Amino acid sequence: MTLNTQIASRSFKSCLMNAAGVHCQTSDELDDILNSQAATFVTKTATSHARNGNPEPRYVGHLHGSINSMGLPNLGIDYYLEYLKEIDRSDVFLSVTGLSKEEIYQVLHKVQESSFDGLIELNLSCPNVVGKPQTAYDFDLMDEILAEVFNFVDKPLGVKLPPYFDLVHFDQVAGILNQFPLSFVNSVNSIGNGLWINDQSVAIKPKQGFGGIGGAAIKATALANVHAFYQRLNDSIAIIGTGGVATGRDAFEHILCGASMVQVGTALMTEGPQIFERLDQELSEIMTSYGYHNLKDFRGQLRYIEE
Ligand code: SIN
Repeated sequence: MTLNTQIASRSFKSCLMNAAGVHCQTSDELDDILNSQAATFVTKTATSHARNGNPEPRYVGHLHGSINSMGLPNLGIDYYLEYLKEIDRSDVFLSVTGLSKEEIYQVLHKVQESSFDGLIELNLSCPNVVGKPQTAYDFDLMDEILAEVFNFVDKPLGVKLPPYFDLVHFDQVAGILNQFPLSFVNSVNSIGNGLWINDQSVAIKPKQGFGGIGGAAIKATALANVHAFYQRLNDSIAIIGTGGVATGRDAFEHILCGASMVQVGTALMTEGPQIFERLDQELSEIMTSYGYHNLKDFRGQLRYIEE
């Protein structure tokens, strides 16, 4: 029995890791993930300079759901590149973005010219920056950005996508993504601009309470996105499944839908890095019960109800 997986010729001892934004902003938090049972880590999404993010309260959650409007608080690309240089590993993910396409190119030029030898996750889906729409909902802009990025980046790079809700949009987005030598697609970021109410008030302060929804509430949407892209993307593009993973069964379902790696957000926030030991154990038990020995035995093998 093994939970081994591979993305862009990097091998991982397991298929479970943190989602960007959760337990990954500081070197101490990243060390915690490295020292846990997690397969690897992804850093908090880095911008060209450090950002404080949005005013607090900006995250409310428990195992079953969360709302956040963090606003990309991070320590800046130089901080993460320095940390990554020190640990010197090629099996880790660096998440990056920019508040404009020019900033995205600037950050990625820096990563390309650095000694970083891991995988780049380009976040095109943050719903929480005031006045900035989610890039990946503007298909022409996403196409333009990827065309420019692949002019100068030759390190393994994937994109973090928002959820889509229409089969026509899956077709259109896959049509764009399939034109590029992407190593992976991470599906999904939070469902943008939900609203939680406590008593008679919004639960979080930024954007009059509007924020990204995560946790169990989004699992069905996440599974649909993972499978829709599994059906449409070139085989060379691996899929990372994110959304609503709190148990080994949830991870199993993401893999059944086509995921090669599974990220944990809300539940990691609630339980801390020891969650990976439990998830590995639960996933292994489910695989044993079905007679599976490795992820390839069932990845993408979701069954349909035929006539
Ligand atoms: C945030 O920092 O607001 C969350 C990041 C994201 O959703 O991409």
